[in-house]
Amino acid sequence: MGYCVKACRRLQRVWRIPLVVAALLHDIGETIAPDNHSAAAAAILRPYVSDRTHWVVQQHGLFQGYYYFHHVGADRNLREMFRDHPFYQACIDFCAKYDQAAFDPKIESRPLEFFEPMVRRIFDREPYAASKMTMGQRATADLGYARGAASS
Ligand SMILES: [Fe+2]
Repeated sequence: MGYCVKACRRLQRVWRIPLVVAALLHDIGETIAPDNHSAAAAAILRPYVSDRTHWVVQQHGLFQGYYYFHHVGADRNLREMFRDHPFYQACIDFCAKYDQAAFDPKIESRPLEFFEPMVRRIFDREPYAASKMTMGQRATADLGYARGAASS
């Protein structure tokens, strides 16, 4: 969990709370679904985050493979199958700047309590499925991508 805290600590500086919470929980599926942990985490977050955040969490395992698949006899470029996807670059950025970068032992962390208000804020929301938001509104509802945060 300390690793995830580092990932979301980095995100907190530049992205909005939903993605900070997504970073905190992006590996939560490891315990119950180690071979499908990305999809498990994405399913938990799905009703509370944008389509982009959901997709980034859902695909992060495959994209993170860029950093180690070649060490285990797999193709590190499997992520290229999504090259034309509108959230492709967001997932590359998430993995490069936050997921992979959080393995750095020199990165400062914060206690989980620091993130608790952010987690409550997201999960206290009315789930999108129960709201009247359109898919277009949902796609951009809660992220700072519009201000270029994904590329910063
Ligand atoms: Fe992961």
